[in-house]
Amino acid sequence: MKIVMLGAPGAGKGTQAKMIADKYQIPHISTGDIFRANISNGTELGKKAKTYMDQGLLVPDELVVDLVVDRVQQDDCKKGYILDGFPRTIPQAEALTEALKKLGEKVDFAINVEVPDENIVKRMSGRRACVSCGSTYHIVYNPTKVEGVCDKCGNELILREDDKPETVKKRLDVYHEQTQPLIEYYTNEGVLVEVDGTKDMKDVFSAIVDILGA
Ligand code: AP5
Repeated sequence: MKIVMLGAPGAGKGTQAKMIADKYQIPHISTGDIFRANISNGTELGKKAKTYMDQGLLVPDELVVDLVVDRVQQDDCKKGYILDGFPRTIPQAEALTEALKKLGEKVDFAINVEVPDENIVKRMSGRRACVSCGSTYHIVYNPTKVEGVCDKCGNELILREDDKPETVKKRLDVYHEQTQPLIEYYTNEGVLVEVDGTKDMKDVFSAIVDILGA
C-alpha cells in the first residue's frame, strides 16, 4: 500500500501518518523529519535546507526528489510506505509518478487531511516537538504526561522555529500556491480521498482506516 499524505502545514499529516505506519506496519517517510535530522547532524544537506525552512519556504525540488526516489526503493518499502510532506509541488509529484511507473508501481491513496487556515495557526503555536526522537504533541489536544518532556524518550520538547505565527502564515501561503494544486493532480490520477481533519485525532484515524480497510 503506497500512500501520500496531503494537507496544509499543521493539518495533522504527521500525527496520522505515524498511526497508519504503526497499524499497517509500513515505513513512515517524512521529508520534514529527514531535513530536521540532517540539520541537527550538521550535514551539508541540513545546512542548505535550514535556510529555506526557517523562512517558511520549500526546499528546492532538486534537493528532495532523488532522496525520496532512492528511499522508496529500499527493501523495507517493498510492502508499501507512507509519504508525509512529499510530494509538495507538481514537479515532485510528476517525478514520483515517473519513478514508480518505471518500477511498475503507483500511488494507491493520496489522503487529503482538510483543516481550514483559521484552525492552523492555533494548532501550530501549541505543537511541541521532541529535540531527540521527533515525536510531536500538542499542549491542549495531545499533552505529554510531564510538561515539556517527551513521553517516548524523556528528552526536551521545543516549539519548532518554523511554528512561530509569522512563519506559519508564510508556510500557509506557500502551501496554497505550490502544494494545493496536488489535490487536482491526484484527483486526476483517480486516487484522491479526503478526511475532515478538524475532528478529534482518533476520529480522523477511524475515517482513514475506513478508507484503507482494516
Ligand atoms: P514538514 O515537517 O513536512 O512540515 P509541514 O507539512 O508544514 O507539516 P507539519 O509537520 O508542520 O504538520 P503536520 O500536518 O504533520 O501536523 P502534525 O501532525 O504535526 O516540513 C517542514 C519544512 O521542511 C517545510 O516548510 C519545507 O521547508 C521543508 N520540506 C519538507 N518536505 C519538503 C518537500 N517535499 N519539498 C520541499 N520542502 C520540503 O499536527 C500539528 C499539531 O496539531 C500537533 O501539535 C498535533 O498534536 C496537533 N493535531 C494533529 N491532529 C489534530 C487534531 N485532529 N485535533 C487537534 N490537534 C491535532
